[in-house]
Amino acid sequence: MLYTLMHKKIPVADVEIDSETANILSIPKLHNIEHIPVGIEAKDGVISRKSLNDWWLGRSIPASRSGIREALEAMNISSTKILLEKCLGLGLSDQYWINNPQKPLEWERINFFENTFSEDVGNALFGKTQNAEIDLFSPDNTSDGWQKKKWIIIDKKRILLKGGSNPAQQEPLNEVLASMLMRRLNIPHVSYTLTEIDNFPMSLCENFITTETELVSAWHIFSAGKKRQNHISIYEHFLNTCDTIGIPNMREYVDKILVIDFLIANTDRHFGNFGVIRSANTLEWLEASPIFDCGTSMWHNEFTHNIRYDEDIKCKPFKTYFSEQIKLVNSFDWINFDALKNIDDEFREIYKPSKYMDEMRIDKLLFSLKKRIEMLNRGKPHAKG
Ligand SMILES: Nc1ncnc2c1ncn2[C@@H]1O[C@H](COP(=O)(O)OP(=O)(O)OP(=O)(O)O)[C@@H](O)[C@H]1O
Ligand SMILES: [Mg+2]
Repeated sequence: MLYTLMHKKIPVADVEIDSETANILSIPKLHNIEHIPVGIEAKDGVISRKSLNDWWLGRSIPASRSGIREALEAMNISSTKILLEKCLGLGLSDQYWINNPQKPLEWERINFFENTFSEDVGNALFGKTQNAEIDLFSPDNTSDGWQKKKWIIIDKKRILLKGGSNPAQQEPLNEVLASMLMRRLNIPHVSYTLTEIDNFPMSLCENFITTETELVSAWHIFSAGKKRQNHISIYEHFLNTCDTIGIPNMREYVDKILVIDFLIANTDRHFGNFGVIRSANTLEWLEASPIFDCGTSMWHNEFTHNIRYDEDIKCKPFKTYFSEQIKLVNSFDWINFDALKNIDDEFREIYKPSKYMDEMRIDKLLFSLKKRIEMLNRGKPHAKG
């Protein structure tokens, strides 16, 4: 079926989409090259179909999403890609969507920022079945990431509800811990709070994107740059690309990510887990995204007896181990170590109510976090296992 790929209210390109596979079969017409998604290859005014297809299909829920098989069964849908067309590709992290030129819709009437949406898909993603027909028009169809999650509306605000994983169900609590640390260190961050659903802890956070902005992941920024030459590190290549395309102050921002990830031993800071906010209208780069998705940290998937603060822990995205990655930090001067004192009470309050963690685990986590703060403060953060 023929659609127009839209960027908010601007037609970007005509795209022919195969409803059975969700693939873009052809791009008969380009309307506006400026507004194509960041990182899409275009040469002499022609968009690479492969590149646009990768981007488009990359908007679908990853096949690795926890519980996705059961959710697809409940919705009677064969693949998460099929859900893209059902919500016109609309999401809550950017402003791209597809419009049917035969029956064009207005962005104001359909975007999920200003219009309400059904929780049916979100509920299916959380394993809830329903007898009534499922309303598939949902921002959850385009949400990324591995953890169970759904968008909900509370007091008109768009809130992302996100679960954790067995055995400790620790990720939502870790999000709150990371918020606490970043608040103390004055690092711009997404503030997470906690709730409980069916006895499982869940994190809640507000959407940091509005009708006027959008999140561009570091991955897409990376793709917008020249091909990396072997002698240039991934770190330098990323920062060079930011410079080339006019994103300011990224070295300072990356410093903050590297430090917070070191402290909480975050093992999953891939290039989809940070990025930059741009104006969806003028395309101007506005600022680095507040730091989000810090849940895969604090030895969340380790047995208590395996928690070792001084072990060299694997990390992402620039180096394989923290001992190497922390060396990339440009300046530690901005870290107010005094603000990291007296964390005991606040820390315990986060983990203590959990039904999935005992006191011994909480003690060990607190001890480990304090030790990592100490390691950084002593200027000897290059832990070797
Ligand atoms: N507060 C927010 N506002 C807007 N978009 C958000 C927000 N939080 C997350 N997102 C978007 O949703 C995506 C998935 O969220 P998140 O990274 O928290 O999930 P995850 O399942 O923990 O991911 P991963 O697979 O990396 O562990 C993010 O990559 C980002 O694009
Ligand atoms: Mg993520």
